[in-house]
Amino acid sequence: MTNLPKIYCAIDTPDIAHAKNLISQIVPAGCGVKLGMEFFNAFGPQGVKEMIEDVPGTSIFLDLKYHDIPNTVAGAVRAASTLGVSYLNVHASGGLEMMKAAKESCAPGTKLIAVTLLTSIDEAEATRIGYQDGLKDRVVQLAKLTQEAGLDGVVCSAHEIADIRAACGPDFALMVPGIRPAGSETGDQKRVMTPKDALTAGATHLVIGRPITKADNPAQAVQDILDTL
Ligand code: C5P
Repeated sequence: MTNLPKIYCAIDTPDIAHAKNLISQIVPAGCGVKLGMEFFNAFGPQGVKEMIEDVPGTSIFLDLKYHDIPNTVAGAVRAASTLGVSYLNVHASGGLEMMKAAKESCAPGTKLIAVTLLTSIDEAEATRIGYQDGLKDRVVQLAKLTQEAGLDGVVCSAHEIADIRAACGPDFALMVPGIRPAGSETGDQKRVMTPKDALTAGATHLVIGRPITKADNPAQAVQDILDTL
């Protein structure tokens, strides 16, 4: 974990030239790159490969959140991990067997993490989809299941870091979005935390998008964040 970047910048754009331009600026500044399903569905595996080849040393978190039967997820993870990405993810609610199958098929150079519960799911939505427990209990339960399946960590909100760290111990990656440097705009993020506070609470990696991608000088924005840590 230690040689991977602390910050993964969310490149949420359907414009591949813009993505390449951003990556060429932020990777040399010490930042990794998170590519999600918007990028993947537009540009596919070839697009991911181009991002890795364009700027040598680019560390990618491919955020595709697989959730299907074990055999299908295992096949998807096998294919995606051979692209040479650093991180890949599945939904923990796919279950223990699904996560074990995913881990077995994951290339050794790729770390596999799980989404516990989407942060867009509030108590009302959780009730609608049949979850009875409190959301925090559910998140911790899914994080422990992820660990039992042998995965490397979870994606979680900043406000879940302490509980998951306490339940899963020190050797578990916590990839945390919803991060805002002090003084920057929160945008549509409702509950944010600063980079320093999230790392102090136990996060291992931070996902930060717009405070970097919308900055006049994205490389300087990365440097400014790293300077606060
Ligand atoms: O621009 P911003 O820093 O808000 O981007 C955060 C990124 O992390 C986006 O790609 C968003 O989809 C993702 N994300 C999130 N909250 C989650 C899970 C993922 O903001 N709970």
